[in-house]
Amino acid sequence: MKTDIQPVIELSEVHKFYNQGQLREVHALKDITLRVEQGEMICLRGPSGSGKSTLLSIMGCVFGPTSGFAAVGGKQLSRMPDQYLTCYRRKTIGFIFQHFNILPELTVENNIVLPLLPLGISPHDQKKRAALLMERFGIMHRRDFQASQISGGELQRTAIARALILDPPIILADEPTAHLDSTRSLELMESLTTLRQDGKTISLTSHDPLVTEHKNVDRVVDMEDGCIVESESVCS
Ligand SMILES: Nc1ncnc2c1ncn2[C@@H]1O[C@H](COP(=O)(O)OP(=O)(O)OP(=O)(O)O)[C@@H](O)[C@H]1O
Ligand SMILES: [Mg+2]
Repeated sequence: MKTDIQPVIELSEVHKFYNQGQLREVHALKDITLRVEQGEMICLRGPSGSGKSTLLSIMGCVFGPTSGFAAVGGKQLSRMPDQYLTCYRRKTIGFIFQHFNILPELTVENNIVLPLLPLGISPHDQKKRAALLMERFGIMHRRDFQASQISGGELQRTAIARALILDPPIILADEPTAHLDSTRSLELMESLTTLRQDGKTISLTSHDPLVTEHKNVDRVVDMEDGCIVESESVCS
């Protein structure tokens, strides 16, 4: 038991309703209690509609819970006004989206620096930061290519570089391998493993065995109908 380490994500008795009090009310998360420690890589697994993306959105400070306690990086979400939540999310969370959300008409470099634009960082510094990440993920030679002209694997590494440009301590990825072949999926898991070795805390959603059974995933959390049904430590 890692009792001396502060959890990076701590959720207690969390409920999330969509359209609360309305005809189309959905009770998407029911009494979720979960701790994620620093440097852990966990995976949320469960059938469609079980609440994985909703839970990841709370971990990613996209919105707070309807009720219950949720703290991310030591800050309690329900105490944060929306404006602050956005700001906090930007520096705390790196989100790798299922479809990568890369803008096809922009160059690789310009996609990567997008999160820096609201911060008034000089173009020189933007380029410097992007260059480090492009080197690291092997896409430097594609720097000036439009994102529509690069391969799927390069696109994926561009998305990872963009998620890391503000050096967030927490990386979240929703179904990151859903549109990748097995080679690309394994490459993605290797990239995430490197980040975990850097001390990043990583939370994924997936039902892909290449992810859920990957040797560097510390824990698989099974969800069903908005509840955590099982949390299984994976011993490698
Ligand atoms: N914005 C929304 N408004 C209303 N209901 C929603 C909204 N987003 C999700 N839901 C509902 O909440 C429940 C949980 O959805 P969620 O997207 O978290 O599931 P999931 O496990 O990620 O599913 P999938 O594997 O299909 O991505 C589902 O019943 C879904 O229809
Ligand atoms: Mg989902």
